Amino acid sequence: MPEILILYYSRHGNVAQMARCVARGVAEQPGIHARVRTVAPVSTVCEALEADIPDDGPPYVTAQDLTECCALALGSPTRFGNMAAPLKYFFDSTGSEWLSGVLAGKPAGVFTSTSSLHGGQESTLLSMMLPLFHHGMLLVGLPYTERSLLTTQAGGTPYGPSHVSGLDSDRPLTEVEQQLCTALGRRLATIASALLVPTPKPV
Ligand SMILES: Cc1cc2nc3c(=O)[nH]c(=O)nc-3n(C[C@H](O)[C@H](O)[C@H](O)COP(=O)(O)O)c2cc1C
Repeated sequence: MPEILILYYSRHGNVAQMARCVARGVAEQPGIHARVRTVAPVSTVCEALEADIPDDGPPYVTAQDLTECCALALGSPTRFGNMAAPLKYFFDSTGSEWLSGVLAGKPAGVFTSTSSLHGGQESTLLSMMLPLFHHGMLLVGLPYTERSLLTTQAGGTPYGPSHVSGLDSDRPLTEVEQQLCTALGRRLATIASALLVPTPKPV
């Protein structure tokens, strides 16, 4: 069964909740599954002390997940208008996957959560795309046929789903923010399925 890798980092649970909504959208497409993975936090003490398996939540991503997935949804909290260091750290370790092109030609989308409405969602989403372009991925955003993009009073951008978590990072996802996360999962699954269909040999 082809699988879409949903890879995220989340400190306070907002991006984790978005990842679950993206997975719900993937599940709407028959014949394709979501594989949810996270990354370990980076530490100034000693990263080798981190356990191989997290105490809770999905397993840590491995290079094999990149090879085996048919698409990628990448989620990060906004950190000063950019993706969080643990995800960047992981991508900085994917040189051999970049060389061998395991992600090339696969669709990808990005999602983020910020505390404040104008706290850098777009810059984060766009900068998250950069390593994915280098990996040769086909970047997928959200089309304005998702009408709630026109009316949202919270998160939701054409570059990908987003969420405004508020000053204490505890504001739940609005209905629209959830819908747009699900829309990204559905879109990735539809595109990945279409790309997986073998092209008929000429007779
Ligand atoms: C070091 C740091 C930098 C942050 N930078 C921003 C920022 O630039 N803009 C913003 O709106 N929120 C910023 N935040 C808040 C987080 O993006 C926000 O709390 C997010 O919802 C957390 O997602 P999570 O619950 O998945 O960890 C920052 C938080 C931290 C700890």
